Amino acid sequence: MKDFLKETDFQAHELAEVFALARQFKAQRGRVASSVLAGQTWAMLFSKASTRTRVSFEVGIHELGGNPLFLNRNDIQLGRGESVEDTARVLSRFVHGLVVRTYDHSDVQRLAAASSVPVINALTDFLHPCQIYSDAFTAAERWAGSGGDLVGSLRGRKIAYLGDTCFNMANSWILGASLFGMKVALAGPKVYEPGAEIRAQLAAEGRKADFLFTTDPVEAVAGADIVYTDVWTSMGQEEEEEARLAQMRPYAATSQLFAKAKPDAIFMHCLPAHPGEEVEQAVLDNPRSVVFDQAENRLHMQKAILATLARRRRS
Ligand code: CP
Ligand code: NVA
Repeated sequence: MKDFLKETDFQAHELAEVFALARQFKAQRGRVASSVLAGQTWAMLFSKASTRTRVSFEVGIHELGGNPLFLNRNDIQLGRGESVEDTARVLSRFVHGLVVRTYDHSDVQRLAAASSVPVINALTDFLHPCQIYSDAFTAAERWAGSGGDLVGSLRGRKIAYLGDTCFNMANSWILGASLFGMKVALAGPKVYEPGAEIRAQLAAEGRKADFLFTTDPVEAVAGADIVYTDVWTSMGQEEEEEARLAQMRPYAATSQLFAKAKPDAIFMHCLPAHPGEEVEQAVLDNPRSVVFDQAENRLHMQKAILATLARRRRS
């Protein structure tokens, strides 16, 4: 597979290598120059806003010796109706890889199918795999310690996911948990129960849909090693904001709810956060909140993903 469009585009046996690279890049940061992408330009084609993903990819590509080329959808002919396929064919003649943030997941699939260079999913409405890899690495760093088995430390752990349980972050955790051997319990309003698309993805890969969905947040967090939430109104859902805030209020990550997880549970959020909505400020500030480690690790994990795809291409 030349692309990284979903969590399972790396096989279970490749995870140890990807995680070890992220650990190595983190340890070396700023001290050891890398030439993994020397002479390469990677285009970053974004149709949505981004702080963490954009900056970590631009810095990461630069730190690997490559040149990031940021392209806002509306600044190129794609925004005026040129097809996804022609865009992919043309960019493939100029650059060595594409990092893409967009709405429809089918658009990254079409770009990947038509391009001759690797395509990385930097978030779609369906999945956010770079985030999940960084998050899993962030938890594993704490659980495995400095020399321990990162991927092994995830096995059997429970993540409780609260709020919007049928959009990109929830879907990605369902797929990611299945890959990492974790248990996932999702709590949200019944109308946001994980949907047909993620169930179809699991089925297509021969994976069991063995996640728990409940409308009871206390049931989800009981025994959890990670309590995770995301904004209630994602990019593209702004018109639904009022209804979503009302529906999801019982699923806010409050200090009271966090206290019902394991005593050493960590709190995670992909950010940006809306304190006072999906999460209390006190939970973000809790000593067991690792939200800024998650943000930092986007850089180290993305470098690991880029280096692994680049190496695959050479072999
Ligand atoms: N978590 C995340 O992807 O953040 P950005 O939208 O700022 O990239
Ligand atoms: N679910 C959010 C994630 C942002 C990183 C969104 O898609 O807007």
